[in-house]
Amino acid sequence: MERENMNDGVFKEEWIKEVQEAQSRAYTPYSKFNVGALLVTEDDEYIYGANIENAAYPATICAERSALVSAYSNNITKFKAIVIVTDADEPASPCGVCRQVMKELCHDDMPVYMTNKSGDVIRRTVDELLPLGFSGKDFD
Ligand code: THU
Repeated sequence: MERENMNDGVFKEEWIKEVQEAQSRAYTPYSKFNVGALLVTEDDEYIYGANIENAAYPATICAERSALVSAYSNNITKFKAIVIVTDADEPASPCGVCRQVMKELCHDDMPVYMTNKSGDVIRRTVDELLPLGFSGKDFD
């Protein structure tokens, strides 16, 4: 188990409770694997995301993308962090598709905090989760 000292000047303990609230909104009749995402805006507002499944499985949307799509749809585009929680013993990390979407919509240095029910936290930046990631800059 990786435990990190989260005195990075950004992370707030209260985010743990908030991301668990987001997780409680998951719709997971198929996997029963509930994921919560808390997107924290530059103004310290909270955008909640949860995984929303579908009987046509590929139509499922992950918690991280739910939060980002919700934020953008409400004209909120500047973020300071995202926190993720699942019921797994170890803090779970975002899937590849969510990493690519974070690369698109968040800044490369934005911290991604992965947590579990015990409150363990792993911190990685967007760039660390998707090194050498493809982006719009590659069109230049
Ligand atoms: N899931 C997420 O919400 N985020 C991830 O990054 C990984 C997977 C969801 C999708 C699906 O509802 C369930 O977890 C099992 O894959």
